[in-house]
Amino acid sequence: MKKARATLDRVLSKAGIASRTITREWIEQGRVKVNGRVVRNPDHWVESTKDVVHLDGLRVREEKKIYIALNKPTGVITSFGDARNRPTVYDYLKGLDRWVFPVGRLDMDTSGLLILTNDTDFGEALLQPKSKVPKTYYAKVSGVVTDDEYFRLTDGLDIGRGESSGPSAVREVRSNEKYTWLELTITEGKNRQVRRMCEAVGHPVLKLVRIRMGDLELGDLGIGKFRRLDSSDLKRLVSHREMSRG
Ligand code: URA
Repeated sequence: MKKARATLDRVLSKAGIASRTITREWIEQGRVKVNGRVVRNPDHWVESTKDVVHLDGLRVREEKKIYIALNKPTGVITSFGDARNRPTVYDYLKGLDRWVFPVGRLDMDTSGLLILTNDTDFGEALLQPKSKVPKTYYAKVSGVVTDDEYFRLTDGLDIGRGESSGPSAVREVRSNEKYTWLELTITEGKNRQVRRMCEAVGHPVLKLVRIRMGDLELGDLGIGKFRRLDSSDLKRLVSHREMSRG
C-alpha cells in the first residue's frame, strides 16, 4: 500500500493552518508534537496514516474548511499569544475544535468584524492587494470635518512614512460641535490606515469599528462573539472582489 509521507511543515500547511513559512517557524519554536514528542525540524518526515500531529495541543489533520466571523472587542490583540500576556482573539474562540488564523488584523484599539479560517488559499487570496475587498469602518473622530477634508479623504492623501491612501468612500453619519461619526470604506490594508488618514486631516480617531467586509455585515453579532460563516456569507464577502476584477 502507498504510504502518505510528507514533511512536517507541509502536513501543517496542507491542513490549512498557515503558509509553510509560518508553520516552519512554529515547528522551530517547539509548538508542534509528533506522536507526543516535540519535533523542531520542519523537514521531519511524517506518515499521515500512522503519525499523530498536534499544534499547541490541538490535533492537526486535513480537515473541512471553516470560516469564522468574530466581533473583536477593543483591548484584544490579533495574534496568537503575547509576550505581555494581553488578551488575544483566541481567548474568544474557546470551544472551537480547529485551528484558525486571522485574515488580516485589527489594531488592539479597533473592534468589529474579523474573519478567521483554516483555508489558507482563501485567506491569502483575500489579503492580496489586488483582491481589493472593501472594508468599511465606523469612526468617531474629534472635531468637525470640513468639505475640503472630505475631498482629501475621498481622493487619497499622504498618510506619512512615505505612504498614501488610495480613493475611499467617506460619508458623515452624524456630527455635533465636538465630534464627527464617519463611515469610511477602503480597499487597501495599510497599517493603521484609517487612523492615519483621519490624523492626516487633523481629526484623530477616538473609536474605530469595522462593520463590513465586501457585503458581509457585522450585523448584530455580540461583542466577543463569533459565528460560522456559510456559503452565502462567503459569497457576500467576496462579491465585490469579483466585481472589481471584472
Ligand atoms: N485601520 C486602522 O487604522 N486600524 C484598524 O484596525 C483597521 C484599519
